[in-house]
Parts: sequence; C-alpha cells; structure tokens
Amino acid sequence: MPTEMLGLLLRHRGIATKEGYVGNRLDRPADFLELGGIPRPVPGPGQILIKVRRAAINPSDIAFVQGYYGQARMQGQPAGFEGVGTVVEAGPGLMGRLLKGRDVAFYVTPDGSGAWAEYAVTQAAVALPLKKGVSDRDAAGLIVNPVTAAAMLELVGAGDAFVFSAAASQLGKFVAGLARDQGKKMIALVRREDPIKLLKELGAEYVLNETSPTYAEDLERVLSKEKPVIFLDAVAGSASAQVHKAMGDDARWIIYGKLDTSPAEILDPSEMIFRNKSVEGFWTTSWASNTSFFRKLLVFGEVQNRFRDGQWTTHVSTELPIEHAIERLPQALAQPDGKVQILLS
Ligand SMILES: NC(=O)c1ccc[n+]([C@@H]2O[C@H](COP(=O)([O-])OP(=O)(O)OC[C@H]3O[C@@H](n4cnc5c(N)ncnc54)[C@H](OP(=O)(O)O)[C@@H]3O)[C@@H](O)[C@H]2O)c1
Repeated sequence: MPTEMLGLLLRHRGIATKEGYVGNRLDRPADFLELGGIPRPVPGPGQILIKVRRAAINPSDIAFVQGYYGQARMQGQPAGFEGVGTVVEAGPGLMGRLLKGRDVAFYVTPDGSGAWAEYAVTQAAVALPLKKGVSDRDAAGLIVNPVTAAAMLELVGAGDAFVFSAAASQLGKFVAGLARDQGKKMIALVRREDPIKLLKELGAEYVLNETSPTYAEDLERVLSKEKPVIFLDAVAGSASAQVHKAMGDDARWIIYGKLDTSPAEILDPSEMIFRNKSVEGFWTTSWASNTSFFRKLLVFGEVQNRFRDGQWTTHVSTELPIEHAIERLPQALAQPDGKVQILLS
C-alpha cells in the first residue's frame, strides 16, 4: 500500500468569520481547495481506513469547504463527508476488524480524514457493509440524504400531509417515494416545470411550481384542503417565510438547509404567540446523536434495502475524476438536476 495519497485538500481552517455563503455554488474552487499529496492516514482505535472509489458532493460539502457548516475545517486535510470504497486496514477494535476487506458506504466523522481522497478514515460504526445489488453510484451517497429522508419523515404523522421545499433535490426525490410508502402526503415545492412529472411519479401527492402565476392560489387551495403542520425547508428565504405565513395554526417551519442566500424573516411574529407557530432546525448529525444505536441500525438497513430493491436511485449528472475536479466543479454544480460525484479509482 502506498504511504502517500492524493486528495482535494482544504486551504483554510476553522469556520468562516465573514458573511458570504453562496448557497450550493462554488464558483472559485481553487480559493478553497487544492489537489495535493499527503501521507496516507492511519486508523486509530475504533477507526477504519477505506480505499475510496467514489465520493459524493453534497450541499453540506460545498458549505463546509467555504467554512459555512457546523464543523471546523482542518487546513491541509481532505474535504468530503461521504463515499464508497473497500476497508483495507482497521485500528484497534472488533467492529473495524470485522469490516476489513468489505465494500462499505461511509460517512466521515470529525475525528476522521475526508472522502475526497484516495484513502479516508472514519469510525467503523458509520461504515455500512454493502448489500449485493447496491451500485457504487447509490452507495457513494447512501448516508447523508437517505438517512435524512428517513429521519425527517419521522416528524410527520401517519396519514398527514407536509410541505417540502427544494423538492427537485436528490433528498426531495428520496422523500417523495418514502412518504408515499408510509402513507404521508408530500406537498412538494419546486422552481421549475421539468421535475414536476418525475416527482409525481416518484410519489409526491402535489407538486407546486413557485414560479407559476397561479402558485399563490394553488398553495392556498392545497394548504386549506390538507392542513399540514410540518414544513420541511432547505431554502430558508423570503419564499419560505411566505409559505409558513400561509400555513395554519401550529405550523412548524423546520429549516434543514439554507439554499437561498437572502435573509429570511418571520413575517408576523405574533403568529408564534397567538397561533402556536414555530421555527426550528433539523440536523441529521443531531438526530444521530439523539437516536439509539439499534434504531440507527434499523434505518441504515431500511435505506440500503430501498436502493437494493430499486425503490430509490441516485441520479448522477457528472462524474469528476479527482485530477480534474477543481477546474470542472463550477460547471458541474451549475447543472439543474442530479448529483456530482468524484471518482478516485
Ligand atoms: N440538515 C441536514 O441534516 C441535511 C442533511 C442532508 C441534506 N440537507 C440539505 O438538503 C438540501 C438538499 O440536499 P441535496 O443533496 O438533495 O441537494 P441537491 O440534489 O444538490 O439539489 C439541490 C436542490 O436545491 C434547489 N435549490 C437550490 N437553490 C435554491 C433556491 N435558492 N431556491 C429554491 N431551490 C433551490 C435546486 O433546485 P433546481 O433543481 O431547480 O436547481 C436543487 O433541486 C440541501 O440544502 C442540503 O444542505 C440537510
């Protein structure tokens, strides 16, 4: 095994101290990342070393490399939160030893080494041995969005409707199918016509286009019919505030992303007092900390089964070999649909 490895390395440390987050865009990747060689990391207690084949690029990665994520950057270390590969080495601990030689989907814990590199290190507990029939395309993004879809839908009651913004996202596509299978009605909000047909086929009960001239009436009609109280929102801009305002008593605006870079304001604070409306956040990292090991195992198993059984699939728009990732990233991220993935070998 080589002692050096190639990675997309972070150029800055810590959390950004100035405003400037630009949503899911990285126009000048070279300001934040460089392709470089560093010593291959060594797994510590409970950790595993993975030879990475493919890694995901999610909005959380884009926020993280720019310093706008809830985790500090380590200058000179690889970025990348999730990927797929083979476990080639294990630190002290039974779980790691059992995984040696297995193909796994993995999430990089803060004590690990990022997925945008030839080798990554993480805790054995967040590596899922792949079941037969799960492709590398699906496995590279098997944790962040799929687990979030399952975890967020726990907030919606059986038979209830819920509002879901930025629904053309990969996460939105997962939520559409899972919601239908759980008997929950997704009121999906999109900003283009193209994804409407697909989202309906996948399982969304309603798909409303925010740019349509009839949007305000359409929204009001659906809200008054279905009376949803949960609004799962990754946009968190002024359009989201309007949706929360249009919802009825007890409406919970649950913000789990910030794709709109304009400030979001609460349009009528008195509704928080007199109509029991609320604004809160959702982070899968916190969900994972507050959820029992066995419940998590169950969720990990369920999400993997959905890929194996063809109920979920990851739509990949661009595959970027690591050597060309920095120059091609802006164009790849500008595509309206599908995920961008990094190829390591
Ligand atoms: N809190 C958590 O734990 C957690 C976990 C997982 C994901 N997330 C969040 O979930 C969101 C979706 O993730 P993903 O990986 O599924 O994303 P994705 O596949 O990369 O898709 C991003 C989607 O966002 C839409 N979008 C971007 N900017 C927008 C704006 N200003 N207004 C409305 N829509 C906008 C895009 O719409 P178009 O298709 O029209 O361009 C696209 O459909 C992200 O915000 C991510 O950070 C949060």
